[in-house]
Amino acid sequence: VTKVNPSRPYLHYAPEKNWMNDPNGLVFFNNEYHLFYQYHPNGTTWGPMHWGHAVSRNLIDWEELPIALYPDQHGMIFSGSAVVDWHNTTGFFDDEPGLVAIFTHHKDTDSKVVQSQSLAYSLDDGRTWIKYKGNPVLSHPTNPDFRDPKVFWHHETDKWIMVLATDQTISIYSSQNLINWVFESEFGTNIGSHEGVWECPDLFALKVEGTKEVKWVMIVSIGDGEGLTYGSRTQYFTGSFNGKEFISEHSEAKWLDYGRDQYAGVTFSDIPQEDSRRMLIGWMSNWRYANQVPTEGWRSQMTLPRELTLKEFEGNTKLVQHFPKELDNWFNHTSEIERTVDSSGLNIEVEQGPVYLSLNTQRPKSGELQIALNYSEQTYTLIQLNFNEKKLSLKRSKSGRVNFSELFSKDQELFFSDIADLQLTVVIDTFSVELLLNEGEYALTSLQFPNDSLKNINLKVSTGEVSIRGMIKQ
Ligand code: FRU
Repeated sequence: VTKVNPSRPYLHYAPEKNWMNDPNGLVFFNNEYHLFYQYHPNGTTWGPMHWGHAVSRNLIDWEELPIALYPDQHGMIFSGSAVVDWHNTTGFFDDEPGLVAIFTHHKDTDSKVVQSQSLAYSLDDGRTWIKYKGNPVLSHPTNPDFRDPKVFWHHETDKWIMVLATDQTISIYSSQNLINWVFESEFGTNIGSHEGVWECPDLFALKVEGTKEVKWVMIVSIGDGEGLTYGSRTQYFTGSFNGKEFISEHSEAKWLDYGRDQYAGVTFSDIPQEDSRRMLIGWMSNWRYANQVPTEGWRSQMTLPRELTLKEFEGNTKLVQHFPKELDNWFNHTSEIERTVDSSGLNIEVEQGPVYLSLNTQRPKSGELQIALNYSEQTYTLIQLNFNEKKLSLKRSKSGRVNFSELFSKDQELFFSDIADLQLTVVIDTFSVELLLNEGEYALTSLQFPNDSLKNINLKVSTGEVSIRGMIKQ
């Protein structure tokens, strides 16, 4: 059988044509998940920003719709969020509740950059949008970094809360109607990582698994800048929020993902109570090379949606990530793997299309388990678990087209804690590998651009043998 090498991802959202970056306005309404995104409709590199639009009923299959928001006299349409105004706090909705988008207007004139927050609303499930006449609703007299509003309804204080990226801090505002905003507090001075400009914040509450305790999570992306080792990436904080102030319970950054390609991730608004999942989607790229990645006619994909939960690991509260259950429906069949693997290796043949691999193994004291994704004799991606160093590496220097960026060929790695039984989930699509270690305690998201399709997966250990249990879905 000759495998056709597809030129698009199967499981990941990518626009039909042209450039995409951050996910925007993630919201669930009337049985649809909405994904808006930073979009340049006239080119395959970043340019005048619009909001592109796609909808899905299952978080995996997306239908691209016409552009939702176009630039206007206030500037381009930068990142932001969307909410359902259930109780017509805005006065925009006479009959039925509807969607409101809260986004940044970005205006670049010869003398200065102005960023301000604006509103648009939709009376037809997000198909068409009306810009609010009083735009912008929130401006700053001097700060040119004043963007990416993420808004949610705070039940305890009966107010809308906005978190906004303000240079290298996050500012918190509140409102009764999404139109008049009051400054509440500023978070982030002397806390977390300040290697670059802060962007695309999110703030939400989650129960700590196995307890009754609720903690708040603040997500903050860090833009690429001079001297950043890894390009752009995402930190988060856990702590408390009282309707005015977010207080982190730690000062060091925690990392959302140890790969290069998870950025500007934010979560869905208004997922119904019965479901109550906190779902995040990120932009699967990195500002260091996003404009150069070798795809044709379109550029950039979103990550798979991730369900977020909070879990305690030796006194440290961490975000844990899972692929949504809807992903299971995509695969036709499952084969079990139950084998002892030694240095001669185990070859798993694969079919055309994406692969979902889940493996469990005990952690020996020494040696290394290598999982090779083989595309051709010369083209492969290596996932290596070094048992002694407790290190997972993903090596993509031989994964195909890599020379468009110096950073791209460098190894990606993470150090895991003293886990006895290793559990690894890997989703491989046309141009990506997404990896979750220890039931989602660690995530690593990585692009790759092989010229061939995946031929087989080879597992082997450097010394001795390990028994492996798992499954592969295709
Ligand atoms: C993050 C970002 C946002 C901004 C948008 C512009 O990737 O820089 O801060 O709103 O992209 O496209």
